Amino acid sequence: MKEILDAILSPDSTAADFAHVKLPESYRAVTLHKDEEQMFAGLDSRDKDPRTSLHLDEVAVPELGPGEALVAVMASAVNYNTVWSSIFEPVSTFGFLERYGRLSPLAKRHDLPYHVVGSDLAGVVLRTGAGVNAWKPGDEVVAHCLSVELESSDGHNDTMMDPEQRIWGFETNFGGLAQLALVKTNQLMPKPAHLTWEEAASPGLVNSTAYRQLVSRNGAGMKQGDNVLIWGASGGLGSYATQYALAGGATPICVVSSPQKADICRAMGAEAIIDRSAEGYRFWKDEQTQDPREWKRLGGRIRELTGGEDVDIVFEHPGRETFGASVYVTRKGGTVVTCASTSGFMHQYDNRYLWMSLKRIVGSHFANYREAWEANRLVAKGKIHPTVSKVYPLEQTGQAALDVHHNKHQGKVGVLCLAPEEGLGVRDAELRARHLPAINLFRELDERTIRRGRDN
Ligand SMILES: NC(=O)c1ccc[n+]([C@@H]2O[C@H](COP(=O)([O-])OP(=O)(O)OC[C@H]3O[C@@H](n4cnc5c(N)ncnc54)[C@H](OP(=O)(O)O)[C@@H]3O)[C@@H](O)[C@H]2O)c1
Repeated sequence: MKEILDAILSPDSTAADFAHVKLPESYRAVTLHKDEEQMFAGLDSRDKDPRTSLHLDEVAVPELGPGEALVAVMASAVNYNTVWSSIFEPVSTFGFLERYGRLSPLAKRHDLPYHVVGSDLAGVVLRTGAGVNAWKPGDEVVAHCLSVELESSDGHNDTMMDPEQRIWGFETNFGGLAQLALVKTNQLMPKPAHLTWEEAASPGLVNSTAYRQLVSRNGAGMKQGDNVLIWGASGGLGSYATQYALAGGATPICVVSSPQKADICRAMGAEAIIDRSAEGYRFWKDEQTQDPREWKRLGGRIRELTGGEDVDIVFEHPGRETFGASVYVTRKGGTVVTCASTSGFMHQYDNRYLWMSLKRIVGSHFANYREAWEANRLVAKGKIHPTVSKVYPLEQTGQAALDVHHNKHQGKVGVLCLAPEEGLGVRDAELRARHLPAINLFRELDERTIRRGRDN
């Protein structure tokens, strides 16, 4: 591995050097173990600790297939899907690997007693399989997480519609939280040159998801002037949704749960902010019963912030806890666009507010090839910025996942894989200098919060 890292760190390495670099037989990877699927049985979700289920193992380098690339991973990031995988909820990801394994002899490689997780990476191509012309060893890349086969016409207009659509590193093996990763080369995109490895690795999954969900016509198709209610506006998805709303001439109404998170939204440029903890919304009276007066109170607060207007779009992902309120506060003809159900997937809402006011609920999931490319292009041009607040070494991925599980983080939590330290990999210092305050925004506010906590 040292030879690979030396080649990446040397400014003089050529494509030929990378093509000839010796590949190791094994690599270090963050894994789940199939024989531990039941380890948390009977515990509450919150008590399931990713630090005990995520292991750092030495695993075999997978055989490279046609149309694939083996990538040296400099950095990755924690997504909520790694939280789901690590607590084996709502199902164990080993079921995904078994099903994938039945597809073909090549897919069978993924069905192993361990699962290398992680759906983001920034790194360097080491080898490409047969039939790959667009990428070569030495290319600096990021990878999006859409894995598709495209043998059915269903996915030919919108690659998310492929019947064999999977999220790499969640529904497939050989993910990004490791020193090496195996991807299909159609997942590769150029690494934004002005970012460090850990910054470049962090937007991938959430940025592409927010782009389809909010901006794309496949999602809410946001337009200038729209009011957009964004739940978790300083979190993984929300920190990108807020940027897209601001960059697209819309007005984000940011919902967060602390003054620190409100500060982050303000620093991004949002003005309408709701601290849901301070304002004490309780949309559920008990497990079975919602409280429409609380939906109304939220709607009233939104009108105060917008000068009497309702929201055109609700950017939904908390799910059960907020969905009734989201449907209620959407304006006549507006759209609730949902990509998740963090607090529970059995939603309940009053359908009278949906049909009588001609509202739409739109389901959205990750992004198609093109949407992921467009979202990455905006990062590469410095129009959308990474939101890394903290970075952990690969050895502490369990702690990084626990931070996200317990909602103790801001924006994105990065993970260094082969990169020996933060701050490496910048190739366009001039573009970086132009956007430095925006690139560092989440990190600096997070550090300020930690300092304030220490002083108190
Ligand atoms: N379908 C897809 O393609 C896709 C892609 C990415 C993520 N997801 C899913 O989307 C969800 C969010 O992902 P993320 O990366 O944004 O996670 P995240 O970084 O944890 O951010 C989510 C934010 O939502 C807010 N939130 C959490 N529970 C809430 C509740 N009960 N009521 C109101 N707000 C709540 C929290 O913000 P405050 O505490 O500040 O309010 C939290 O920071 C996860 O379930 C993830 O699996 C789906």
